[in-house]
Amino acid sequence: MNFTDALNLVEEKLGEINFKRPPQGLYDPIAYTLANGGKRIRPALVLMAHALFDSKPEKALMPAIGIEVFHNFTLLHDDIMDMADIRRGKPSVHVKWNENTAILSGDAMLIMAYQFVAGCEPRYLQDVQNEFSKVALEICEGQQYDMDFENREDVTIDEYLNMIRLKTAVLLGSSLKIGAITGNASAENSNHLYNFGINIGLAFQLMDDILDVYADKDNFGKEPGGDIVSNKKTFLLLSALNEAKGQERSELDKWLGADEFDRNEKIKAVREIYDNTGVKVLATKKMESFYNTAITELEKVSGNKDVAVELKNLADSLMKRTK
Ligand code: IPE
Ligand code: IPE
Ligand code: MG
Ligand code: MG
Ligand code: MG
Repeated sequence: MNFTDALNLVEEKLGEINFKRPPQGLYDPIAYTLANGGKRIRPALVLMAHALFDSKPEKALMPAIGIEVFHNFTLLHDDIMDMADIRRGKPSVHVKWNENTAILSGDAMLIMAYQFVAGCEPRYLQDVQNEFSKVALEICEGQQYDMDFENREDVTIDEYLNMIRLKTAVLLGSSLKIGAITGNASAENSNHLYNFGINIGLAFQLMDDILDVYADKDNFGKEPGGDIVSNKKTFLLLSALNEAKGQERSELDKWLGADEFDRNEKIKAVREIYDNTGVKVLATKKMESFYNTAITELEKVSGNKDVAVELKNLADSLMKRTK
């Protein structure tokens, strides 16, 4: 099982599920979101973790689908919270329809996600659902910190790392853990896989922060600069606050405190401060250090060797991603 095999299984299953049903106002946005692609990393992690220990991927397929539907639900609400108008190169649900639609269709997706997750083998149901509920709540915590931090100027790097662990990394960790559970892996293997996922997830969010500033707009699928506009306390901004001195620091503080500004002007000015303070290099180094820890954890997992190589390949490709 490699990433492409996993993707094919996920796309095939998603294609079989009919998300379009009445009332259209509720379900059309769900079908729209799930048909719009995305990298499908989380369900692939479920299936690949399962394949380390068991040769029948269909036993992990419904939880994998549930996790992807859940992830897509978080994006509907996240795009409202972040006032982000473009997702995967197309209008976000709250723009194409409206905010109420994005809220309610998102709610329905969360419930459907539970239904899909419950389609695992009955003997693993309780463990899988406990893991899923735990991670779902942690993501809410992470999203709350993310919003709280927009209005704080004294966020530390440790607070930031805890926030991205919660909003992003735990879902990668739990995807792997759920695959390990359905594959009947030992607790030791499943914990190493979880730690692999957490560290890949931390690196993944660091890359997400970098891309939000530096991605090529046409290929990215999101509107770059959103994090700068809303004063997100990303690793780049926190590092710039540490590094910028004198005139440059006052300039940064001015933009952080500005109530009214031209969006593009702010993005350009803050990006220039990032360039001058070299924070992209710092973020990249931090990302690489999480990647290295992730690989050390992966090496401690005993399971099918070919699948372990494919998991490493997937981790490598995520470090080089452009969207
Ligand atoms: C976006 O996740 C949200 C974050 C946790 C950064 P992805 O980058 O995996 O989004 P898709 O599903 O591929 O669009
Ligand atoms: C998203 O973080 C985390 C969740 C959706 C839970 P971001 O807000 O950075 O994700 P993008 O950049 O919008 O995809
Ligand atoms: Mg967002
Ligand atoms: Mg967000
Ligand atoms: Mg982002």
